[in-house]
Amino acid sequence: MLGHYFKQLNLDLKKQGIATPQLIIDEAALKQNIQHVQIRLAHAKHLKARLVVKSLASLDLLKLLSEQLNTQSFMVFHQPHIISILENFAEADILLGKPMPAQAVRQFFEQHAEWANAKIQWLIDSKQRLQQYLEIAQLYSLCLDVNIEIDVGLHRGGVQSAAQMVEILKLIQQYPQYLKLSGLMGYDAHVSKIPAIIKKPELAYQSSQQTYADYQKLIKQQFPTLWRDELCFNGGGSPTFSHHTTKSVCNDLSFGSILLKPSDFDSEFLRALQPALWIAAPVLKILPFTQLPSMALLDKLPHKCKALFIYGGYWLANYVYPHQAHTHVLYGRSSNQELVNVPKDCDIQVDDFVFLRPTQSEAIIPQFSELKLYRKHAFETWETFRE
Ligand SMILES: Cc1ncc(COP(=O)(O)O)c(C=O)c1O
Repeated sequence: MLGHYFKQLNLDLKKQGIATPQLIIDEAALKQNIQHVQIRLAHAKHLKARLVVKSLASLDLLKLLSEQLNTQSFMVFHQPHIISILENFAEADILLGKPMPAQAVRQFFEQHAEWANAKIQWLIDSKQRLQQYLEIAQLYSLCLDVNIEIDVGLHRGGVQSAAQMVEILKLIQQYPQYLKLSGLMGYDAHVSKIPAIIKKPELAYQSSQQTYADYQKLIKQQFPTLWRDELCFNGGGSPTFSHHTTKSVCNDLSFGSILLKPSDFDSEFLRALQPALWIAAPVLKILPFTQLPSMALLDKLPHKCKALFIYGGYWLANYVYPHQAHTHVLYGRSSNQELVNVPKDCDIQVDDFVFLRPTQSEAIIPQFSELKLYRKHAFETWETFRE
């Protein structure tokens, strides 16, 4: 079935005169994924959808998703992406997904005074960073929306205790002219990553949600002046999408990768979603077998595989077609012309394409200047955020 798909895709690429490595989104699979997400979100009306820009880093893709999922909320991880989003989405509501170094925030306000009042929640992970941001707010006479990163079990930084949270909230309360609490952010990717033998995903999720709820309660009870019903309680992403859309103490859910489903997201919780992202790379050369430099003796042995050299390689991706295509342990990897072994009887010629499935989208998309949306034997070209 997949074999038939890639055979056709190979023909379609060649028919279009395409002869360089391509990053391809399958439109039908993307549509199916969008539909799945729409249905799940329709059942979780209290959750606002937030698109993770780094995982979907193409303006055309983000525009399509923003329309289809009816959201202009974005989670941004890279300073230059902030401007691209602000310039292209009139109602943009940005939440930083990682705490920006204070210098990057200072540069943002220095170079982009026109966006001084844009809707941006700056993520802070400690009192020290909050103090740095306070100085920036004072310098530019701004009131910054600050969202507090909380550790809900991933242990990637953020607030780890009630005492730390209280210190931060006190500082916010002390400077209402410069700082405004906009919410909390608790990323829970560990839930589906902990081996089930140590902790069942459902229990890990429950415990992360309990931690989240405890911080919400702390704000409401101890800092009622900072509490507003509109506070943004962000959670997610993709690995726990199905958990949050079933039950969540959050009101804001970020996700990105789930829509393209690279292989790192193959989990029982995301079974309904389809892989939609592929790399296609042309075959440059075909040798009857792998010749290892300085090991001519081995050439005499029987060989099960022939050796292709492809245009490009060494991507964070796995070979999926031709069937049984794989790299050679001893020959090593190459980003320029990678050696790929395929069975001896594999029907493949120079100028045909081999296909790979990325393990993640965030590392792969910026390696390509454009994406090809594959629809009914034709391709539409989309630009990516190369930076
Ligand atoms: C804070 C945060 N939220 C959400 C996500 C989810 O992104 P995705 O849905 O693409 O996995 C990430 C990914 O790194 C993240 O760091």
